[in-house]
Amino acid sequence: MRVTQTSSLALTWAALASALPSGQAKVPSCRFASQHTQQQVLRDPSNFINDLLYWEGQFHQNNVSYNTANGMSYDGTNIDWVTGERTVKHPFSAASKESLQVMLYTHAIAGSAEAARFLSPNNPAAAPEMVVSIMETKLQTYLRFNETYPGFGGFLPWFTSSTQDLTPTWDWVNRVPGLDNGELLWAVYGFIQALENTNNASYKELASKWQTWMDYTKTTAAQIFYKGNGRVCSVIDIKNQSLPVNDPNQSYDCEGTGLLNDPYEGELFTFWLNFFGGLSDADKKALWAIKRPQLVSVDYDMGNVGPVTVQKGYWFSSHETWKVMEMPYYDVDIIRRVYENAERVRTCNSVVTKVPGMFASVNNSTNSSNGQVIGYISNAGIPSISNQTVQELDVITPYSVFPTILFNKAVGLAWWRNMAIAKKGQNPYGSTESTRVDGTGASALVTWDSKITTVNAILGGVTEWTRQKMKSDGLYEEFISIATNEYSSVFKDLKGEHVNFCLPEETVPDAGLEDFTLCV
Ligand SMILES: *[C@@H]1O[C@H](CO)[C@@H](O)[C@H](O)[C@H]1NC(C)=O
Ligand SMILES: *[C@@H]1O[C@H](CO)[C@@H](O)[C@H](O)[C@H]1NC(C)=O
Ligand SMILES: *[C@@H]1O[C@H](CO)[C@@H](O)[C@H](O)[C@H]1NC(C)=O
Ligand SMILES: *[C@@H]1O[C@H](CO)[C@@H](O)[C@H](O)[C@H]1NC(C)=O
Ligand SMILES: *[C@@H]1O[C@H](CO)[C@@H](O)[C@H](O)[C@H]1NC(C)=O
Ligand SMILES: *[C@@H]1O[C@H](CO)[C@@H](O)[C@H](O)[C@H]1NC(C)=O
Ligand SMILES: *[C@@H]1O[C@H](CO)[C@@H](O)[C@H](O)[C@H]1NC(C)=O
Ligand SMILES: *[C@@H]1O[C@H](CO)[C@@H](O)[C@H](O)[C@H]1NC(C)=O
Ligand SMILES: *[C@@H]1O[C@H](CO)[C@@H](O)[C@H](O)[C@H]1NC(C)=O
Repeated sequence: MRVTQTSSLALTWAALASALPSGQAKVPSCRFASQHTQQQVLRDPSNFINDLLYWEGQFHQNNVSYNTANGMSYDGTNIDWVTGERTVKHPFSAASKESLQVMLYTHAIAGSAEAARFLSPNNPAAAPEMVVSIMETKLQTYLRFNETYPGFGGFLPWFTSSTQDLTPTWDWVNRVPGLDNGELLWAVYGFIQALENTNNASYKELASKWQTWMDYTKTTAAQIFYKGNGRVCSVIDIKNQSLPVNDPNQSYDCEGTGLLNDPYEGELFTFWLNFFGGLSDADKKALWAIKRPQLVSVDYDMGNVGPVTVQKGYWFSSHETWKVMEMPYYDVDIIRRVYENAERVRTCNSVVTKVPGMFASVNNSTNSSNGQVIGYISNAGIPSISNQTVQELDVITPYSVFPTILFNKAVGLAWWRNMAIAKKGQNPYGSTESTRVDGTGASALVTWDSKITTVNAILGGVTEWTRQKMKSDGLYEEFISIATNEYSSVFKDLKGEHVNFCLPEETVPDAGLEDFTLCV
């Protein structure tokens, strides 16, 4: 049930504010996770969520997760190994992080008290205005980028956002990825709908300006990314990013042989091309045909769990599930059931393998002698049900729970709590990126991916708005038809739907790490 009138929300906020004479929100303890028992979280997670949103909201600050001057996200920031205070900012970001920011803001526009708790706990009523102001600034930044670098056709590469005007990061000069832009575009699509649902003329005007930007990418998407016969490139090499898309000297080539044909989060971009790329019916059919071999059914069967039928993972990292936060996949019964099975498996696999948390692609631990994060572990998930079976399974991350939360907040948060209570698991900006399962290391880093995926899942994703807009744009039936067709031809009789989600049975051992001194 979405609230379309700001007046009824004002009531909620007034009630909240009057409960506290000073208008200041009561600040929960930074180390709140261990102050709630697992039993309490399971019985009713709302108090836990209230504390979680407050502290994850501390990430939403200038020079930590975004730049107030241009409205753009920052990838995140390193934090001090001892104190947890921010140290080296990541002055860059990408369309995927932008998508998490925009999804969060969509809820604020729609009047979510939870989004307001995250964004503006001392003055929840100010959250929508705050978001509108950031999104006005951000749009100006996108438009200036398009003017300076028209070769991107409105899409975003990895960019440096610490200066007023964006520039492609050194390694993304003349290059643009499809996957992250698919995530961004559907987030903007939902955001526009949330603005249109308000009764505020200036909000509607902002909606129409974002719509203009978004519509522009529809005109360039196929020319840049589509190479015929269903082939979409993962990364495009641009001849010259400073030349307009239609300049006779401009050209776009696939980087290597990499095709965007995955049945995971890359599919958001496939749907964008399908609906808006101006492709022929034959090309649209080919888009899906080329992806079909990757959508595979597999049964998990380990320990006393299984068989449980799931969609084969690439690594089975939680990151792969991103698409369901943005498009209404769960309106399709068979998809919802297959994905619910995935969470049976994700939670129970960690019990079977005696791991105190769950896996997802994540940054490795910090080297405490030089403060540097050691590397990035892409290959973290569940090997027995994945395409990529060689994995590194020594680091767990709180955001692994976000797909679980979409089905069961209490169980997902019980797992989140179990990771957060590890030494250094919480810091002055909320949850910490990752922890070693043996307790000997942690990643002194805070990022959108490892934190705000979970927050967006708690808020329920943005499918409510993308569904509404797809219906009014006349696309919804086609979406359901494609999604149903793809999944129902692979998944028929699911095994294991009676299996319960599992709860953590291990804890991260105390191997002598000290908590961050600024988070007690
Ligand atoms: C934020 O970062 C900018 C440079 O990116 C710097 O000029 C400014 O002083 C920083 N502000 C704070 C409060 O740290
Ligand atoms: C509409 O939004 C503007 C600014 O964005 C704000 O000043 C105004 O109070 C809002 N109007 C209503 C009726 O909420
Ligand atoms: C982006 O730049 C191109 C020209 O280089 C222009 O035609 C187009 O209108 C711009 N897009 C937006 C949304 O302003
Ligand atoms: C790219 O295009 C710009 C604008 O026309 C031009 O100034 C620049 O020299 C070109 N770069 C290369 C490497 O050709
Ligand atoms: C394309 O590039 C060539 C060589 O860089 C230049 O001579 C020519 O004028 C350019 N054509 C256009 C239409 O800009
Ligand atoms: C890991 O680091 C990269 C680069 O800083 C960042 O983009 C990403 O969000 C981080 N976390 C995860 C979970 O990927
Ligand atoms: C950690 O940093 C120290 C000092 O710079 C270095 O000698 C060591 O090789 C690093 N260890 C790892 C695992 O990167
Ligand atoms: C992660 O760090 C550990 C040491 O803490 C190291 O053994 C492992 O090779 C690293 N993995 C990656 C992918 O960086
Ligand atoms: C992984 O996927 C590729 C491409 O679909 C396929 O050729 C390969 O057989 C798969 N491997 C496994 C182990 O599933």
